[in-house]
Amino acid sequence: MIKIEGLEKMSSSQKLAYAKLLLRGQLEIESNFRALEANASAILMAVLDDLNWAGFYWVEGNQLVLGSFQGLPACTRISYGKGVCGSAWKENRSLRVEDVEAFPGHIACDSASRSELVIPLRKAGRVVGVLDLDSPLLNRFSQEDQEALEGFVEILEEALD
Ligand code: SME
Repeated sequence: MIKIEGLEKMSSSQKLAYAKLLLRGQLEIESNFRALEANASAILMAVLDDLNWAGFYWVEGNQLVLGSFQGLPACTRISYGKGVCGSAWKENRSLRVEDVEAFPGHIACDSASRSELVIPLRKAGRVVGVLDLDSPLLNRFSQEDQEALEGFVEILEEALD
């Protein structure tokens, strides 16, 4: 499988670049989206620091339904416009939440989560799912993290069925 070595010597921006490189490698050897999605969440959890949850929710009707993830068992369905994930879907934009307790309507799946980053996945401009990252640290995600992870999502979008 994927070899991950020397992470301890990498800066945060190198880790983000490395996660994208690993995902790009997966796209070269696998076309099954379910398999790619599963390894995408595992890559993020293995490479990035201070995450307690990394995974996907996919649009089904007027709800998001839990997809592949790493972390504790999570809520399986989120309605349109609800929580950080449903809001990112409704607003069709990334949402970076410095303090989840200050976000009205935040859905607490893991009580350890303190900050969160949600990035929509789009097909022909329409949101088809979201990548959700949770951290036990307040204000874990920077603007640089957001931009790099939007790039990570763009790679995965290339493989959407
Ligand atoms: N916190 C999210 C729910 C999903 S869990 O964090 C995995 C939200 O408010 O939408």
